[in-house]
Amino acid sequence: MADRLYIFDTTLRDGEQSPGATMNIHEKVQLARQLEMVGVDIMEAGFPAASKGDFEAVKTIAATVKNAQVAGLCRAVQPDIDHAWAAIRNAAHPRIHTFIATSPVHMQYKLRKSPEQVLEMARDAVRYAAGLCSNVEFSAEDASRSDWDFLTRVVETAIDAGATTINIPDTVGYAQPDEFGALVRYVMENARNSHKAVFSVHCHNDLGLAVANTLAALKAGARQAEVTVSGIGERAGNAALEELVMALRTRHAYYDMETGIKSEQLFPACRLLSMIIGQPIPANKAIVGANAFAHESGIHQDGMLKNRETYEIMTPESVGRTKTEIVLGKHSGRNAINGKLEELGYRLTPEQTQLVFDAVKKLADRKKQIYDEDMEALVLEEVFRI
Ligand code: KIV
Ligand code: ZN
Repeated sequence: MADRLYIFDTTLRDGEQSPGATMNIHEKVQLARQLEMVGVDIMEAGFPAASKGDFEAVKTIAATVKNAQVAGLCRAVQPDIDHAWAAIRNAAHPRIHTFIATSPVHMQYKLRKSPEQVLEMARDAVRYAAGLCSNVEFSAEDASRSDWDFLTRVVETAIDAGATTINIPDTVGYAQPDEFGALVRYVMENARNSHKAVFSVHCHNDLGLAVANTLAALKAGARQAEVTVSGIGERAGNAALEELVMALRTRHAYYDMETGIKSEQLFPACRLLSMIIGQPIPANKAIVGANAFAHESGIHQDGMLKNRETYEIMTPESVGRTKTEIVLGKHSGRNAINGKLEELGYRLTPEQTQLVFDAVKKLADRKKQIYDEDMEALVLEEVFRI
């Protein structure tokens, strides 16, 4: 039987750390609802000690979400842990996520602590958190640049103190896939009692390797993957939810892992996020970009007409994209245009819809048929002003 992989979504926390991706409470709750529809196992709702706004947002999400676990992030210090717990304690399934850095550069320059002090802080924080909540995740920030044996000691200390999930982050996107897989395997094989915790990875995309590193870690034994919608996150972002899930699904025989994700909800989630943060999905973005299922060359089109599998390794429908028979033109009415916008995953306000409607009518006077790409371009122009 295939192994179960837990999907931990951190769009509302690490994703929000992406430049320009700040969300208000209402937007966060809207996204949290969509994440539940996607079927993520855990959603990290924010960093409650960071600000009053973040605290309130996490608290509201905790009260709203029913099926997924709701995690609150906190540094490995009591006041942070108290804030996180106060924000999530009323969730149906709360999780405290506490972290401390373990790499020499972070310990020396950022924390100004010795390795022994860091070890002690990790133990005390996890023990304190475990006294409040039975579901505690511990992250060793910058794990991929840490000494492997020190990291292993910190991990076994956290497990002994009550951590139920151990997260190994590649905080600065420095790791290489086989090296990262080897690190995860090493820690899992050498940390005492490692079987008592679920091992997780959290990969950043500075070298474009976040999903590749995550997959390598899953091969090595990790069973929780931390991801964000469309891969947004600090600097170059995090491993993209939709890319990871579709890699596992498309290559199921290779990975032999199941998730609880409803893949048809992936595109709507990416589209909703794009609308909320006001940043369009890049056309060449894997899985959800406008070009991801577009076939341009004659040879490819010919192959596709004969058999879709010639150039498609998954169907657009499987990720929630629909191919429609409706071709818009100058006779199309408001319903057809609204319907098309919905099919393309846009949820516009009435004012935005009106702008697009007027632009469609104008374009239809010059152009016989309006294709999906035209609609995408009009939304970019009229709504995103790009
Ligand atoms: O990138 C990172 O190390 C993090 C941790 C807080 C998990 O975001
Ligand atoms: Zn991160």
